[in-house]
Amino acid sequence: MDISCSEKELFIFKKIAHTAADLKIPCFLIGGFVRDKIINRQTKDADIVCVGDGIALAQAAAKRFNPVPHVSYFKNFGTAHIKVDDLDIEFVGARKESYRYHSRKPDVIPGTLEDDQNRRDFTINALAISLNEKDYGKLSDPFNGIEDLNNKIIRTPTDPLITFSDDPLRMMRAIRFAAQLGFTVEEKTFEAIRDNAYRISIVSQERITDELNKILLSPVPSTGFSLLFDSGLLHIIFPQLVDLAGAEYKDGHGHKDNFHHTLQVLDNLSMKSGDLWLRWAALLHDIAKPATKRFEEGHGWTFHGHEVIGGRMVPKIFSKLKLPMNEKMHVVRKLVELHLRPISLTKENITDSAIRRLLFDAGEDFESLMLLCEADITSKNKYKVKKYLDNFTLVRQRCREVEEKDHIRNWQPPITGEKIMEIFALPPSRPVGDLKNAIKEAMLDGDIENTYEAAYDFMIRKAKEMGLHPAKTNS
Ligand code: CTP
Repeated sequence: MDISCSEKELFIFKKIAHTAADLKIPCFLIGGFVRDKIINRQTKDADIVCVGDGIALAQAAAKRFNPVPHVSYFKNFGTAHIKVDDLDIEFVGARKESYRYHSRKPDVIPGTLEDDQNRRDFTINALAISLNEKDYGKLSDPFNGIEDLNNKIIRTPTDPLITFSDDPLRMMRAIRFAAQLGFTVEEKTFEAIRDNAYRISIVSQERITDELNKILLSPVPSTGFSLLFDSGLLHIIFPQLVDLAGAEYKDGHGHKDNFHHTLQVLDNLSMKSGDLWLRWAALLHDIAKPATKRFEEGHGWTFHGHEVIGGRMVPKIFSKLKLPMNEKMHVVRKLVELHLRPISLTKENITDSAIRRLLFDAGEDFESLMLLCEADITSKNKYKVKKYLDNFTLVRQRCREVEEKDHIRNWQPPITGEKIMEIFALPPSRPVGDLKNAIKEAMLDGDIENTYEAAYDFMIRKAKEMGLHPAKTNS
């Protein structure tokens, strides 16, 4: 083999090779698996292209494994999938494809290995390894993909205008691979992306967002977002981010370029966390700055309330991008909304109550919030950076002390709504909510301890003020 595979993988490929030989169907490992093996990148997906019927090959190959894996296939696309151990193997017949201009759905015509390599997106993704008896393990590299791998270059195998016209998503894939692998997009290829950026509009939102997530999860995500910006793609797929770009000056007052700042925050955060949703929060933390920007005479530029408006924009952006509208979205919204709170606690004379409120509002996302705030320090002055970081260390310390004492982070109301209804013989109604809220506020203000007994006594006093009397006493 011209690539190094594990014993298990070699065993699997031999079985497939023997099946293909019996069926007299030439077959090859191709695409991402070959690329990733050459650059020593983890991979668990192997694509096999054969000159013949991919589904028939998959079905016959599956029978040679013990236990026999399930074969799932898409007849329309001529592809089949099996999973052996933890390797996902996809079979497809080699094809020439010709695409219609306004659609992503190709007319599929059977072809040779060369035809199949010609239609692939990048030279580094067109590498193939023979699984045939006569030259088993031999690498086929018609477009100098190895050279591009060595030089860290993303380039289309043929005219980029045609490659991108065939599937405009490939423009985002080029940028995604550049971000994931730390590669450069070759000049002509990049020019073609710039010229064809508008065609991204025929691609489904799900596929676009899939690439955005992969860019966000790459080691230095700003690389990908800068390329999306420079190519014009970002203007189409995510205009709110583009609105952050640029700095305005008036009466000697300027403000920072918030696009540049956002990308720096994202990179800072990405050095500390691989969590996709936390990275989304970093990307969106200042998203409402353009909408809230004002110039105040004698004072300069302000962005009052951008964290609240930004929080409100999160569900809209998630919905538009077809990101999940679930708990993750709520976490991103909460982090955007709270991202200025820890800074406000770096002043002197901060009360325990303010600390308790932060712990309560951040809940189990407290650590994520602190990571975001620390990443939000982008000053070039290293003394300022140290001062801000030291301040956050103090906030963390205060929060630890208050949390140890009051256990706020996973706070559950010590007296539930049901219990309140039972004690005062009330139906579900406004006074029940008011009592519950009053207990919470008293506890956060430090007027009562975070215990059932303290909450009960407080509730009875409060209820009396409201003209309510218990139908039964504490038990
Ligand atoms: N491919 C392509 N054009 C696309 C998508 C895929 O030419 N729009 C080809 C490439 O040769 C690619 C292969 O199909 O290597 C497999 O595609 P996919 O699994 O999506 O990508 P990988 O290259 O394997 O990379 P990753 O798994 O990171 O997405």
